[in-house]
Amino acid sequence: MIKVGLVSLGCAKNLIDSEIMVGHLQQAGMTMTPEAELADVLIINTCSFIDMAKKESVGAIHEAVDAREESKKRKRQKIIVAGCLSQRFREELPALMPEVDAFIGLDQITQVAPIIQNLVGVRDHEQENLVTKGPQYIPDYDTPRFRLTPKHFAYIKIAEGCNHPCSFCIIPKIRGRHRSRSQESIVKEARQLIESGVKEINLISQDTTYFGMDKWEEDRPKPTSGVDSSKGESLSTLIRELNAIPGDFWIRLLYTHPAHWSDDLIAAIAESPKVARYIDMPLQHISDNMLKLMRRETDSAHIRGLLKRIRAGIPGIAIRTTFIVGFPGETDADFQELVQFIEDEKFERAGVFNYSREEGTRADKMEGHLHHMTRKSRYEKAMLAIQRNIEHVNQDLLGKTLRVLVEEPGVARGEMDAPDIDTTVFVPKRLPAGQFAEVKIKDWRGYDLVA
Ligand code: F3S
Repeated sequence: MIKVGLVSLGCAKNLIDSEIMVGHLQQAGMTMTPEAELADVLIINTCSFIDMAKKESVGAIHEAVDAREESKKRKRQKIIVAGCLSQRFREELPALMPEVDAFIGLDQITQVAPIIQNLVGVRDHEQENLVTKGPQYIPDYDTPRFRLTPKHFAYIKIAEGCNHPCSFCIIPKIRGRHRSRSQESIVKEARQLIESGVKEINLISQDTTYFGMDKWEEDRPKPTSGVDSSKGESLSTLIRELNAIPGDFWIRLLYTHPAHWSDDLIAAIAESPKVARYIDMPLQHISDNMLKLMRRETDSAHIRGLLKRIRAGIPGIAIRTTFIVGFPGETDADFQELVQFIEDEKFERAGVFNYSREEGTRADKMEGHLHHMTRKSRYEKAMLAIQRNIEHVNQDLLGKTLRVLVEEPGVARGEMDAPDIDTTVFVPKRLPAGQFAEVKIKDWRGYDLVA
């Protein structure tokens, strides 16, 4: 029996790809092992979003290659590199890493079992580069998948790829054009998950708000003009149908884009009590100068107005966002406008990225790249503004009762905390893991709450 080890790096979208690979390997009769030295084949599912992620992925590959060279037991182990690093650098990597046995991309995740069968036992095979350009794959509700998240929460990939032209981002070039699943397929998957005991469904894609819109033949809304869900399937129609599934569970919306929010989406969330009062909406900046250079297809007035409409339309909503500081051409005035915006809007959850220059993006070729010390200092100042907000948010929660989902004994998450991203609520150890509980907040420490 072939034993396979897996190292899964990167975001939740990549984690689902790992889950699909494991599902197909198990279907083919292979076993998974958590001990790399026992594996006949080691798959490293990589990320290459920014410099730090690339370094982590390359480090994991080198570590596996070195371990194989040093250990007699692992001499015949095969190493497969999958995911966004191999997809992004499909032409360069094979020559740079001759020790790797095979490279696979996003369109090969369902073929991983036959690829392994062809590799194992063959001594002097040639390195295989199976990565294809412009991935097309999108999973369905019955795609074999073995969930790697705890029993009580799951991710559902509602679409894959991205049609936005953001000048800093390489992901559209890696993951291809936006392609939505059908609403029926997603609802079937959600039903299966809820029946299996899942208490929280996290909807993900590159732009969750663009769901369905790629299928509208004509009249596709221009960014910022709003979405009319009567034209076909959209995030609004999807969440109304998910909310109607019987059971006690949260639906969480991750990776929404400000250009594609509509009043109908705000209404759909407001009238769907199972949708967590939490939205993740990366804004990246607020200065018009920056939004234009970043090619965000939206402007400051639209974002400020949208935030007001969301807060008015969905009482109790927590907004999570991320910003990029130190983008080429960012002036002191642009940065000050951003800090002021963070202070004024009092986001419940937020994060900052220090701009990472990525080859192959439009921003890489732009003028006005900033000194790394300027970027670092802006990153620290923006983070400070965010921390001050969080302190106020946490202070306001003192004495309040929150519904939480217990992750493990003593550790829970509230409605405004997405898995693996946001903060923790420390709860009494007697509360059962994987279940909802009502707790009273009595203290806070840094980003975390104590109940
Ligand atoms: Fe995710 Fe990294 Fe790919 S963030 S989409 S695994 S480049």
